[in-house]
Amino acid sequence: MDAADCSWSGWVWLSWVLLAARGVGVTTRSASETSAASVANKVNALMAQMTIDEKLGQLQQQVPQPPGVLETQAKNGMLGAVLDLTGATNINALQHVAVDQSRLHIPLIFGLDTIHGYSTIFPIPLGEASSFDPSIGRTDASVGADESAHNGIKQVFAPMIDVSHDPRWGRVAEGAGEDPFLGSAFAVARVMGSQDNAAGKQDMASADKVIATLKHFVAYGQPEGGRDYNTADMSIQRLWNLYLPPFKAAVDAGVGSVMSAFDALNGVPSTANPYTETQILRTQWGFQGFIDSDYTAVQELIAHGLAADGADAARLALNAGTDMEMVSTNYVTFGKQLLAQRLISQQTIDNAVRRILTIKYEAGLFDHPYVDVSQVAAHTLTAADRAAARSAADRSMVLLKNAGNALPLSSTLPSIAVVGPAANSQQEILGTPGIGAQGQAADAVSVVAGIKAAVPGTTVTYAPGCIDGTGAADQTCASNAGFHAAVTAAQSAAVTVVVVGEPAAMSGEAESRSNIDLIGQEQHLVDAIKATGRPFVVVLMNGRPLTIPALDAESPAILEAWFPGTEGGNAVADILFGKANPGGKLPDTFPQNLGQIPLYYNHDSTGRPPDPNNKYTSKYNDGPFTPLYPFGYGLSYTTFGFSNPVISSTTMRSTGSVTVSVNVQNTGARTGDEVVQLYIHDPVASIVQPVRRLQGFQRVTLTPGQTTTVKFTLNRNSVGFFDNNGKFVVEPGTIEAYVGDSSTAPLVGSFSVV
Ligand code: GLC
Repeated sequence: MDAADCSWSGWVWLSWVLLAARGVGVTTRSASETSAASVANKVNALMAQMTIDEKLGQLQQQVPQPPGVLETQAKNGMLGAVLDLTGATNINALQHVAVDQSRLHIPLIFGLDTIHGYSTIFPIPLGEASSFDPSIGRTDASVGADESAHNGIKQVFAPMIDVSHDPRWGRVAEGAGEDPFLGSAFAVARVMGSQDNAAGKQDMASADKVIATLKHFVAYGQPEGGRDYNTADMSIQRLWNLYLPPFKAAVDAGVGSVMSAFDALNGVPSTANPYTETQILRTQWGFQGFIDSDYTAVQELIAHGLAADGADAARLALNAGTDMEMVSTNYVTFGKQLLAQRLISQQTIDNAVRRILTIKYEAGLFDHPYVDVSQVAAHTLTAADRAAARSAADRSMVLLKNAGNALPLSSTLPSIAVVGPAANSQQEILGTPGIGAQGQAADAVSVVAGIKAAVPGTTVTYAPGCIDGTGAADQTCASNAGFHAAVTAAQSAAVTVVVVGEPAAMSGEAESRSNIDLIGQEQHLVDAIKATGRPFVVVLMNGRPLTIPALDAESPAILEAWFPGTEGGNAVADILFGKANPGGKLPDTFPQNLGQIPLYYNHDSTGRPPDPNNKYTSKYNDGPFTPLYPFGYGLSYTTFGFSNPVISSTTMRSTGSVTVSVNVQNTGARTGDEVVQLYIHDPVASIVQPVRRLQGFQRVTLTPGQTTTVKFTLNRNSVGFFDNNGKFVVEPGTIEAYVGDSSTAPLVGSFSVV
């Protein structure tokens, strides 16, 4: 039995991340009091000189306007931040106006949606969550920060850490899936990648670091009907147990800003919600940064029916704790009158300005307001960044089915047909458009290009299968006009790779779907390829779980590639030909049909758990109640065995800990990765507990025959939960432990909290 496969430092880092994830945060804000004190002195000295207009100006964040508009606002000190302006030269030009021509020379913050890369696009975050390797999130955020900062962007509107149970919601693509523990680990890793240098020290002022922005605060990922921007309404215990944990973990990691969400939470819009923005985020958690509204979310308080007009919206948002107004202009328009009417206090305005100026100092903007244009090329789309993106994509893919070891394919096949409208697209491979920052299709490697590069000796033919009236690939697959050509290609090829899923343009913000089947005629395209009787495998490109029971039933092999980014085609080929062995696991449940939604692994037991043999239990009378693929599921080109689970003690004091260890062996013939997962269940508690809660995961690489021991530590933060007062409680009693390769892992034992 070998020593634990992962390095000691890896354990330490991961333990720290997971401790942070459970709120045992080891804050990484700049530790030296002197720097904090000096910043405070500078901020106070500057604020003492500011007029009320200049203070309100710092609260305004604006998008590019017709020539001269922003320059005038900047010159008059009526602008604090800009989003969506790109290009180092453009940014420097506007920054010079703000710094050189305004009365107090306060620099602007330039922000952008660098969600999974700036020019080097990594897999979509839901894909990276599939790796169950938070270090990938850190690398992605670090590369994104380096490219963004060297292109003049100093605030990224990332990480998006909304837990969601609803794949109809298009923005599941941007998050880390349905589980708060996995989501917390990725949230912390991404904040560290954006803000902290290798030493784990907060260093937003570094030339390759940025201000991260947690979003969307909070519970935006649980809109009714999966319809974007819709109401989120839930118990306080669910809010605390499922949706807040990633934010708490990332606040403890020292994030610089938080973005308030579009949703109304329990009847109160998140952009004017004193409970979440002030009581939780500031008073209970001690968040030091600033709260940025989402795009016109302050103005939208009127449409919500909370505010009577713009002045009311400004009053409600400012008093709740929203410091900066994105795009709408109610703060600068009505701030002075609200002050005069004593509807907001000078203290409230000063607090908001102070938080923003503090972050500007901590981000080094006063010392280094300009970006060095000569450095842009050296820090954009480098070979190292591409390699990191390819590795991330390799590790993010999930093998969903592999009957008869249809995969990996031989590298010496005489011919391969590639079919599907996205297979030859450099745009689709980049994924969800709204979060693509500056990613360029021209820089991307399509699946066809990746396959051709991987097997130069093989004849590779391509047929879109789905074409429009001009014969070009149709990503919506509205017609079967191209099926014949695809079938012909398949009939004369040794194997066919069918690439199906959903169009990238139908993923992301404002892309909720009321049907999450394969898009258009794509299922029929697979049927047609199947009907040829020739060997085929399927590659999925999608930004959310899809309902694909027919595809699962008829396909020999299915590889979930998500939208794998700039190097995605090479990564798909890496997996298809076995250069990389897929080791990803699903961060989101795949339902069998739409009617099952919401369907998630960490559900309550109910008083009548579903029993196929008992009518009067919680299930459907017209279909299955189980998922197609459960949370944490994923196959490999090899196999693994678990043995010798050990729980270190039969009891755990509420202030103590127990360890749960298990041996895992590679029982196959090929080196591969397994993600060992630990779930707990509290069978008796004052609030009914989920049937499973992920409380540990570790991805290990094992050579054939190799065994390693994976050990997890559980403590009060693992077994406790929040009650309906938002109070964290640890109750005595039995805790069951489940360990294995997915959320269906078997019971390995139990211990008692005393
Ligand atoms: C959008 C999104 C948010 C994004 C912001 C700026 O509406 O909700 O995630 O960061 O506006 O683009």
